[in-house]
This record gives sequence, C-alpha cells and structure tokens, in this order.
Amino acid sequence: MELTNYLNAMRDASGVPFYPVVFQFFLVLTFALHIMFVNFLLGGVVVSIWARIKATPNSLRLSKALARGSTINASLAMVLGVAPLLFVQVIYDPFWYTANSMSAYWAMAFLLILAVAFTASYVFYLSGSDKAPGASGWAVLALVALLAAAAVIHALSVEQLLPQMWKTWLISGQEVNASGKGLYAFEWHRFLHFIAPSIAMAGVYLMLYAWFFNGRKDYDRAYLQETATLGANLALYATAAQIAIGLWWLFSVPMEFAFYKNPFFLVGAGMGAAFFLFLMTARANPIKNAPVAALIAFLSIFLMSYAREALRMTYTGKVGYNIFDYKLSLDWGSTVLFLGTFVMGIVVMAYPILVAVQVAKNGKESNNEGLAKLATALPVVWFLVVAGLGIVISLKNGTLF
Ligand code: HEM
Repeated sequence: MELTNYLNAMRDASGVPFYPVVFQFFLVLTFALHIMFVNFLLGGVVVSIWARIKATPNSLRLSKALARGSTINASLAMVLGVAPLLFVQVIYDPFWYTANSMSAYWAMAFLLILAVAFTASYVFYLSGSDKAPGASGWAVLALVALLAAAAVIHALSVEQLLPQMWKTWLISGQEVNASGKGLYAFEWHRFLHFIAPSIAMAGVYLMLYAWFFNGRKDYDRAYLQETATLGANLALYATAAQIAIGLWWLFSVPMEFAFYKNPFFLVGAGMGAAFFLFLMTARANPIKNAPVAALIAFLSIFLMSYAREALRMTYTGKVGYNIFDYKLSLDWGSTVLFLGTFVMGIVVMAYPILVAVQVAKNGKESNNEGLAKLATALPVVWFLVVAGLGIVISLKNGTLF
C-alpha cells in the first residue's frame, strides 16, 4: 500500500492534458521507430566492420556506404529517442523520475557516451579511404559506446519495472543511498532481445539498399545482387536467433503474469513468425522482396513494442499503478497544437526525403515546387502561432509585464 501511495503521490498533480491511451499509442509508435533506427545503426556498424575486414572491392564499397548510413541512422535513432522519453514522462513519471534519481550519474553519462558514439561513427565515415589504418578502430569504438548507451537505458527501463525493489536497492539499515551512482537492474534476455534484431535489420537495410539503387548505371548488378543476398541471409538467421532469445525472455518473466497468454504478446509474436516465414521465401529474390520485408519488419517491431508496453502495464499494475486512472485535465488547445505540430513535421520532412529519393534514383529532382513552398512556409506559420500564443497567454497571466 505504501508503495502505491508513493507512486500515486508522485504523479503530476495537474493531471494529463489528454486521454492516456493516446499518449500510450504515441509512446509505443515512437519507441518502435526509435528502436528500429537503433537496430539499423548497431547492425550497420557491425556489418561495416565485417565488410572492411573482408576487404574485397565489393565489401569495401559496402563498408563505406554503411559507414555513411550509420551517421544518419545515429541522428535518427537519437532524435527518435526523445519522443518516447517525453511520453514516458507524461504517463509513467513516478517511475521515470525515481529511476533517473537513483541512477542520476548514469543518466548523465548516457549523454556523454552518446557523444562519443556519434563522434566515433563520424570519424569512421570521414576516414573515407578504404584502407585508412585504424579506421575500423573508430567503428569498434562507436559500437562499444552504442552498446554501453543501450545498456544504460535498458537498466533504467528495468529499474522502472521493479518498484518493489527500490527500497532494497537504496536503503541499508539507517543509510539511504542518495548518491545517484548506482545502476541496479539488468536483464540479459531482455537486453539481447533489443540488440540481436540489429543484425536482422541490417539485413533488411542491405536488401533495401540494393532495391533502391537497382537500375542505377553506377551500381553494377553483381554488387547489388551480392549485397541483397547477404542481407536476406543475415535477416533470416538473425530473426531465428531473435525468436529464440524472445522465448528465453518470455519464460524469464514472472510466471504469475502468464504473459504467454497476453493477446498483445500473441499478436506481436505472430507477426514476428510471419516475418521469419516471409524471409524464407524472400531469399529467392531479395531485391524485389525488399520493400515488403521492410514493411513486415516494421509491423513486427511495432506490435512487439505494444507487447513490451503490455508487459510494463502488467509490472506496474502489480503495484497498483494504472495509467488509465491518471487525473484528466482535458486541454484541447495544447493537444491540437501538439497533433498539429506532429502532422506539420511529417509534411516538412516529406520534402527533403522526396528530393533525396528522386536525386538518388534519377540523378535529378523533378518538379516539387508546391511541396517546397509548403515545407518552407509551415515552420514560419508554426513559429508565429506558438510565439503569438505564448505572448497572449503571458500577457493574460500578467507574467510578461
Ligand atoms: C543511439 C543510441 C541509443 C541506443 C543504442 C538506445 C537503445 C535503447 C534500447 C535498447 C532501449 C530498450 C530498453 C529496454 O526496454 O529494455 C531503449 C529505450 C529507450 N530509449 Fe533509447 N537508445 C539510444 C538513444 C536514445 C536517446 C538519445 C534517447 C533520448 C534522448 C533514448 C530514449 C529512450 C527511451 C525513453 C527508452 C525507453 C522507452 C520506454 O520506457 O518505453 N534513447 N533505447
């Protein structure tokens, strides 16, 4: 009872501005995007090191392409990490803030480690020349730092699931350990279940790469075919390993949860199995099957991310915490602004992505004047609305003058 009271007392007294189920959906969607790019990043770095060591003309070319891709995947993985962070803080704030206070040093070290990982992956990419001595060393440093970052955020995630352990971790006798230096939880099965798919997603990435550049004169067919075949094999075997690790995790979760009967888990696992079966057939023509493989891969990650969320609700439900009874202070203004910003972001990002695809595919941009104007005007309008609202509200509240 004491723990439940503590958790509910730690909730935001002003309540949540919109229905928790909507925040939960965005938490799961943005986490799925985050972990997908984390997997593209980690897998891409691993395969680029292997390709650099293999040192055939094709593998050196592939290593360079992957090195370039990992700097972009790193940016996307990091930016897309901020989103689930915001949603976790809205509906699971007692857990997030307690874990980050207990392990404050690690939460801060996480940012430093990310800076090292990002810099190292950039130096690896910029090292450029295939035979640059020590270039692979930078990639190895990037990989180690990324795995360290993953380990820290994983530990913080698991600490949040075990509130009944917080007292044991922090209090011994009369002593309360408020140093923030401890890191108290780590589950190999759960951790590997988020890391192992990196090789499978690197495989899907290679299939997409070959499909994307297929037909371009400066990409010879043999190189693309070799890359796609490697991708399809990596995706298949790593997905088999992922399923085995998933079963290890499933049977390590407290049996009283009977999580193997949870509908979210069953749907997610079903999609994962469908992905594995599709990969078995996709190997016959990995270039043609690349887009479908990528789509099924994302659906599997999304549905398994919902299963991850259902597991969190099972853990937190055990200590009397339920996001659906969070105090609701319906605020349509901020909700419309938030959803409007989300949609605007998609429109604004659509333009550079479209240009990149057109130039990479056809060597030139076709007429996107309309979208270009919209993508330029929207942020200006957004700024005027948000700044204007801020000034009006501050004037109304008397906080400006
Ligand atoms: C690029 C380096 C990163 C890696 C390798 C990484 C890896 C991971 C992994 C493995 C998890 C799942 C942990 C688990 O559930 O056991 C995770 C979750 C998460 N990551 Fe990242 N992450 C990275 C960057 C970031 C950044 C930059 C942020 C935020 C600024 C972030 C925010 C999160 C959040 C909030 C979660 C948990 C979400 C939840 O509890 O639902 N990550 N990350």
